[in-house]
Amino acid sequence: MGLDVDTKVVKIDDKNIDESCIDEAALIIRNGGLVAFPTETVYGLGANGLDEAAVKRIYEAKGRPGDNPLILHINDKKQLDSLVKYIPDVAHRCMDMYWPGPLTILFKKSDMVPDIISAGLDTVAVRMPNNKIALELIKGADTPIAAPSANLSGKPSPTQASHVIEDLWGKVDMIIDGGMTGVGLESTVLDLSGDSPMILRPGGVTLEALKSVVPNVTMDSAIIDESEKIIPRSPGQKYRHYAPKADMTVFTGDQDIISDRILKEAAKYVSNGQSVGIMATEETKGKYHIGQVLVVGSRNNKESIASNLFTVLREFDNLNVDIILAEGVESDYIGMAIMNRLRKAAGGQIIIV
Ligand code: TXA
Ligand code: MG
Repeated sequence: MGLDVDTKVVKIDDKNIDESCIDEAALIIRNGGLVAFPTETVYGLGANGLDEAAVKRIYEAKGRPGDNPLILHINDKKQLDSLVKYIPDVAHRCMDMYWPGPLTILFKKSDMVPDIISAGLDTVAVRMPNNKIALELIKGADTPIAAPSANLSGKPSPTQASHVIEDLWGKVDMIIDGGMTGVGLESTVLDLSGDSPMILRPGGVTLEALKSVVPNVTMDSAIIDESEKIIPRSPGQKYRHYAPKADMTVFTGDQDIISDRILKEAAKYVSNGQSVGIMATEETKGKYHIGQVLVVGSRNNKESIASNLFTVLREFDNLNVDIILAEGVESDYIGMAIMNRLRKAAGGQIIIV
């Protein structure tokens, strides 16, 4: 599919949902079209998850590699029964605690799920998003909605409708503008399809939080040790993702030492005639007097950093900087997901100061 689709943008207020807009979007999904819609994490690019031809259009619109499986979004737990072979007890506990919310669960898939969804694997990823527009859309479409993040493959995930418009204009039938998403990073992917529960992608539901429901949960070692040797279990984790155009380096360690080091590096690049973007935090922004400084959030409120991260990466693209020097955060709680995305955005260039 080229740039040949009339894209319609509709604004929906989640506090006062216009049902006729939802009906129109749901009809597009039922007829095999593509609708980008907000969730609480990032915008999704939705199609009827049980319609192979429709799902194929998702891969085409995004330029997504065919070996990267998709998440099915549901609005009612009952929909799960037909999609999976069985639901382990631990999954019931997770769903009771975190659905609707930023937790995707992997199950053994049933024959109902087309192979194009699971990219040939025997598992299927399912989540119930915590966003009224998304839930009403799925309900109206009366089918599970397959939805990856609504960005071009390799670009930062969209957290505002304008990001979707930038990436997918002319490639999707409708874009629902529901304002800014909340969490700002994609959902946690939790594999409950085997004997040992494992997080394949860190996200809004943290390892620490999951431990209260799944005490034996572990992290895929490919997430912790990103050396090339370990192949991630989640195909999506192996790509350089969320990548801005500029060459990016992340600095972690003590806050003051980080900013001193970034300042020094920035000065070096600037004297070489390169334009530098600095991803700063509220606490450190006053220290930087050169480069294009963007504040991503507060170190005292890492959720704010998660929420703004992809917007800031896209802003650096628009500023056309050559180099991005970014402050890292501690890898606990939501910090683990932030560092995972930063590491991928930087193509692994992390400096511990
Ligand atoms: O928050 C989110 O999860 C967003 C919103 C739209 O719901 N969606 C999203 O989808 O991030 P996507 O396609 O960008 O990322 C899905 C991730 C990929 O890393 C993919 O490899 C992994 O989930 N995944 C999906 N199905 C899988 C499976 N059967 N086995 C292993 N990993 C799977
Ligand atoms: Mg994605």
